[in-house]
Amino acid sequence: MDKKVIFSGAQPSGKMTLGNYLGAIQNWTKLQDEYDCFYSVVDLHAITVPQVAKDLRANTIGLLAQYLACGLDPEKNTIFIQSHVSAHTELMWILNTMSYMGELSRMTQFKDKSQKNELNLNAGLFTYPVLMASDILLYQTDLVPVGQDQKQHLELARDLATRFNYKYSDTFKIPEPYIPKEVGRVMSLQEPIKKMSKSDENENAYILLIDDADTIKRKIKRSVTDSLGVISYNDEQAGIKNLLEIYSKLSNKTIEELVSMYEGKGYGVLKEDLSEVIIESLRPIREKYLDLLNNKDYLETVYANGANRAEKVARKTLRKVYKKVGLIERKFI
Ligand code: TYM
Repeated sequence: MDKKVIFSGAQPSGKMTLGNYLGAIQNWTKLQDEYDCFYSVVDLHAITVPQVAKDLRANTIGLLAQYLACGLDPEKNTIFIQSHVSAHTELMWILNTMSYMGELSRMTQFKDKSQKNELNLNAGLFTYPVLMASDILLYQTDLVPVGQDQKQHLELARDLATRFNYKYSDTFKIPEPYIPKEVGRVMSLQEPIKKMSKSDENENAYILLIDDADTIKRKIKRSVTDSLGVISYNDEQAGIKNLLEIYSKLSNKTIEELVSMYEGKGYGVLKEDLSEVIIESLRPIREKYLDLLNNKDYLETVYANGANRAEKVARKTLRKVYKKVGLIERKFI
């Protein structure tokens, strides 16, 4: 029996955070044996906000290295760079013609990002979710492992697939979200009511997968808590709640276990222990990452093979789409 298909991706708009890891990539590594997985470094998504070309190149290769360092095996998964498979932008055009202005303007991420980028309110930022739908639908994806913040985009992908299938007959599989219950969202260390984001201006707000031990200690020490001084798990203590969730996920201890372990202890002790847990969890990833960066030829082979494999699958879907829409197939003479 054919394996079910998984597609997911992350933007090379900076380095990966603990939020990306716990919300998504850690999950990806658990799925690689059971599913036929496509994991993309979505560079075309990243340019919807201003990027410096040389940083984007470095971040793209860096993100690929981080995928591998987190444990994604390029033999088992198709790992590729989005812009290497042009079918993504081609399908996007078709789906653009079927997307409504109203539904795109309701996307919360667009609303947030457009507020932050008022001077660069480009059309790409608006149609970003259509590109994401194309990424997913090209591979006849069954499941999309993402963090909670991507759920609305995924619903749009499902709506567009259903709309296309209804208009032109069955073409796309309708993808399902796959969101880990325990950590749908890792929050900012500075403002724990918003998500941890790699594009945050305040670098104390996030932990990067490749942060060194001192940086991790410093960031956790400075993380915002409250003045209650009691370690308990509730919405009023958003900072402590977030630290407990991170701790729980990385240590495999339940929140209840942690709360009783730290009963009567101060925030300082919790923060110190948590720093150690994070440092030890990320150490192998950081070491492997630094190693891989010294091996550019290997990384090149990975993304070259990945693009070949992805291209074949994506073209097949795109050919079907073009035909159904009424575009004449190109003849080669
Ligand atoms: P991106 O690059 O912002 O994030 C990559 C993945 O990490 C998850 N994530 C989080 N999870 C929990 N807590 C957080 N604080 C946190 N921050 C990020 C995201 O949910 C995501 O799963 N639009 C996508 C990239 C994309 C994509 C796709 C994903 C493009 N095409 C197709 C899936 C399928 C994005 O910006 O992710």
